[in-house]
Amino acid sequence: MNHQPIGIFDSGVGGLSILREIRNLLPHEDLHYFADQAHVPYGARSLEEVRGYCEEITSFLLRQGAKLIVVACNTASAASLYSLRNRFPDLLFVGMEPAVKPAAELSLNGVVGVLATPATFQGELFASVVERFAEGVTVLPQTIPNLVERIEVGEIDTPETRDILSRAIQPLLDSGADTLVLGCTHYPFIIPILQELAGENVKVINPSPAIARQTLRLITSNNLLASKNESGEVVCYTSADPQSLTTMLPLVDLASAKILRVKWHGGSIELID
Ligand code: DGL
Repeated sequence: MNHQPIGIFDSGVGGLSILREIRNLLPHEDLHYFADQAHVPYGARSLEEVRGYCEEITSFLLRQGAKLIVVACNTASAASLYSLRNRFPDLLFVGMEPAVKPAAELSLNGVVGVLATPATFQGELFASVVERFAEGVTVLPQTIPNLVERIEVGEIDTPETRDILSRAIQPLLDSGADTLVLGCTHYPFIIPILQELAGENVKVINPSPAIARQTLRLITSNNLLASKNESGEVVCYTSADPQSLTTMLPLVDLASAKILRVKWHGGSIELID
């Protein structure tokens, strides 16, 4: 029987899309979610800066007893997964990479659009998945300026959000993309609008369930499953105003999750509450 929590982090509320899937698959696990909202969005920052945040967040979650860390952010994974594995060699990590592989398999015409942040496209991880999995497929990278900021404040279906999204995907549709990859964990929240704007013939790939399955696999194969009968506790930490988490948690059926505030202090994280 294991009592340690699973640590999950993102720049903000995006990783809640992953938390929801993990919660569904592993309802008895305690989940500790860290939203680094003092620094969101990560996507416009340098990979080096993001890497520094990720290393400290991982240390913080370890101090809370985490047995495995889910880097529930494509940008953070692109910036830091490699260095996190080096720096914490005994810790289990689940990271994200743009789901180019399933997209390349599903696309009928071989034209795939990837929606992600500028930093994700800069990282070596993106170049490597394209090289490994997209032979003979046209992969079109596309950023969506300002969308993460709208989702952070809970503006999921507003005229502005629709406009931002529509402007971003139009060039992909014009180029014939029949498959779109969600390469940022904030984006699953706008799937219904995206599907509506792109049309029902365009396939949208959401990697969140696969990340939850990978978490289950790692926890099981390392004998770290919590064998409790009651459901696990969800604790959220934010490095900024809790309002955004309060708005978004009900959307993932976790309105009652505990929210604790933390602050960055000279490069390290301290609990306030
Ligand atoms: N949710 C993030 C991702 O998956 C980061 C968004 C941001 O902070 O720019 O890339």
